[in-house]
Amino acid sequence: MRLRLALLLCLLTAAACAAAQTTLTETPEQRDKRMRWFREARFGMFIHWGLYAIPAGEWNGKPVPGLGEWIMNSARLTVEDYEPLVHRFNPVQFSAREWVRIAKSAGMKYIVITSKHHDGFCLFDAKNSDYDVMATPFRRDILKELAAECRKAGIRLCFYHSIMDWHHPDYLPRRPWDRRPADTASFPRYVAYMKEQLRQLVQDYGPLGILWFDGEWENTWTHELGKDLYAYVRSLQPDVIVNNRVDKGRRGMQGMSAPEFAGDYGTPEQEVPPEGLPGVDWESCITMNDTWGVKKNDNNWKSSAHLIRMLSDIASKGGNLLLNVGPTAEGLIPAPSVERLADMGRWMKVNGESIYGTTASRIGKPAWGRSTTKGNRIYLLVFDWPSDGVLRVEALPGTPRKASLLAAKRTGIPLRQDGSAWLLTVPAQPPDSPVSVIAIELTRPSMSMRTGTGEKPHD
Ligand code: GLC
Repeated sequence: MRLRLALLLCLLTAAACAAAQTTLTETPEQRDKRMRWFREARFGMFIHWGLYAIPAGEWNGKPVPGLGEWIMNSARLTVEDYEPLVHRFNPVQFSAREWVRIAKSAGMKYIVITSKHHDGFCLFDAKNSDYDVMATPFRRDILKELAAECRKAGIRLCFYHSIMDWHHPDYLPRRPWDRRPADTASFPRYVAYMKEQLRQLVQDYGPLGILWFDGEWENTWTHELGKDLYAYVRSLQPDVIVNNRVDKGRRGMQGMSAPEFAGDYGTPEQEVPPEGLPGVDWESCITMNDTWGVKKNDNNWKSSAHLIRMLSDIASKGGNLLLNVGPTAEGLIPAPSVERLADMGRWMKVNGESIYGTTASRIGKPAWGRSTTKGNRIYLLVFDWPSDGVLRVEALPGTPRKASLLAAKRTGIPLRQDGSAWLLTVPAQPPDSPVSVIAIELTRPSMSMRTGTGEKPHD
């Protein structure tokens, strides 16, 4: 009997390993298929939300320096100090439908929300924790509501799940001011706890677009654990995309990993790689002001024009923009964020075809702006409209058949050749702002700077 049981166990383990293996050893075609929606989406919404929205950057009436979602750490709070916030979390103005509407009308194709941030609080009905939204006066499963609205709207739902956890008794290392004993803690038990939560998130809220890990830098997290976690979540949902912070390979805020590390794409933080990252998938995560989780006194908002140019710049280098909002304790996305997203949405409605599904183009970073490509089209994203009415385009990767403005009802634009360059006679005034887009149709498909080709963009 015992032998039979052991045999069965062996077979089961072998089957589980084989399942994990098949998902990990995919062909380039299989990988392209899995990454396809991500590469086409180009624009997503990051949402940092949790208990830290209540203090919103202030503790005992005093401003705390640093990021809003880091207040527990920055103000050196113990679990006893911070945990009671759970009894005050009551975002009565929260509407999943409204949040999804705001993201969708901005032109965003996916949402990455904090299922659990570093403070350990879970924004969902966690079956293995009482430190979750069901323990608050609000008692509504926020992630369930978002999952339903995302499904209706065709937006991919993704979760940011922190590896670092300042609340769980088994997580190590302890903060220096945390007086809870560490000798009874078991890191493997913490890993099992986290995996069980991920199972719930994938199976009860999925299918998910991305699992976005973070907080991997502490010394308890190892390359082995990273590889194992990657394989685990892919075995739960084989086509899920996993960011590179699952493993230890991220090199600073530039966020790229060497191939031996697990993770499907690089995560530059608060920066756009100057030359893009040819040959790899990547996504820059960027805040609209200077914090991820809301802070009462952070009004350092980037302008809509800046954000639209940033999205154009990122697309021209073959990456995605994951743009953050930090909702308030009442459940509202702050008005300055909503205004900026509406501006981006207006621009995307007219010019979105120069962003979605495009790849970095060979003409890369011309003096007047940026460019992207798709099929036999090149899009010129013009930041600085020529004052003499002539736009000079060097090194077009083919012969242009026609050119037109995406704004101004696709008005045609005359083209003439000047040596190796093409000259476009454009209207005196830019037809759109802050970026006007000209689509050029080539007689043959353009040679694109596809991610995966390993070529370098031109400067
Ligand atoms: C940093 C911060 C974290 C934030 C993240 C977003 O890693 O620790 O608070 O969630 O950046 O990329």
